Amino acid sequence: MHDRFLRACRREPTDVTPVWFMRQAGRYMPEYRALRAKHTLIEICKQPELALEVTLQPLRLGMDAAILFADILLPLEPMGAPFEFAAGEGPVVKAPVRTRADIDRLRVFEAEEGLGYVLESVRLIRRELDGKTPLIGFAGAPFTIASYLIEGGKSSDYRRTKQLMWTEPEAWSLLMGKIAEVVRRYLRAQVAAGAQAVQLFDSWVGALAPEDYREHVLPHVRHILKDVEQTGVPVIHFGTNTATLLEAQVEAGGTVIGVDHRIPLGAAWQRIGHDKAIQGNLDPLLLCAPPEIAARRARAVLAEAGKRPGHIFNLGHGIIPETPVDNVKALIDVIHGG
Ligand code: CP3
Repeated sequence: MHDRFLRACRREPTDVTPVWFMRQAGRYMPEYRALRAKHTLIEICKQPELALEVTLQPLRLGMDAAILFADILLPLEPMGAPFEFAAGEGPVVKAPVRTRADIDRLRVFEAEEGLGYVLESVRLIRRELDGKTPLIGFAGAPFTIASYLIEGGKSSDYRRTKQLMWTEPEAWSLLMGKIAEVVRRYLRAQVAAGAQAVQLFDSWVGALAPEDYREHVLPHVRHILKDVEQTGVPVIHFGTNTATLLEAQVEAGGTVIGVDHRIPLGAAWQRIGHDKAIQGNLDPLLLCAPPEIAARRARAVLAEAGKRPGHIFNLGHGIIPETPVDNVKALIDVIHGG
């Protein structure tokens, strides 16, 4: 069993630092692009055989964990807020959630009923990996999901999201509570289906001041994490632009805290506390730089971790589509000491 990833999550010593990458399956890989020429992203997510194929694609590069192929927005459809991925635009929610009545209509569903196809993928991938590589499940966090629901797509300033949060705190809390309960059940179901760790992506939460995070977000994230931690599988709590939120995120929960590249890993770990594991944090754009520069910077991240058990090497955020595959392979070899 290839278990250095799970051992590091538990802060146990490992032979070498484990490594995996957010968005390790995706457009930078020719075999992914070939499959995408025949199927939409949603089709891949909804057909477990295809989700399996894409999940396994990057593993030839030597990552220490597989991440389920799915998307953080999949729960929107069973909640009653369908969306599509518009070419070149990213996700578009057909009828954005803007009023108390819109929020009242959103459904809190059982995972097997609304997202049974994802759970089927988890079971299939686990069988196929056969204990050789651990499988990470995931979901989006309430703030990040709410931002798509409210804005109707990606946003640069989260204007409508913050407006709702400040002007209608009760409606906001109802919305966040509904998303949190959907996500709690969904992550629990992924674990029951065989996920050996789960990551909560709060990708856009760094847009908030600590005061707003604590008042309007933290209780909902805690609702999820404190419960999912009870399953005993490691829970990775990830966000970007979170240098000012780390202490509050630790309070919300997580076995492992994920940090981006905007803060040195050593300083982040000190703030998080060495009683938690840490995941991160090379700038993903370094994978588009000359490999010797990426190697030097990767070694600097390892030096920041200082050989303490409990470091999982990752990027500060996802791999971008322009990344050369060879650079990904070369970086993994650097981390493994090759
Ligand atoms: O390899 C993995 O990391 C697992 C699969 C995965 C996807 N999305 C597949 C995907 C994961 C973990 C996600 C998470 C996700 N999805 C996040 C949080 C992660 C992050 O980056 O912070 C967010 C915000 C989303 C929402 C989303 N999905 C957006 C904004 C987009 C469009 C932007 C883009 O890159 O085109 C997607 C599409 C998406 N999800 C792709 C992939 C591989 C793009 C590929 C395609 O169109 O084929």
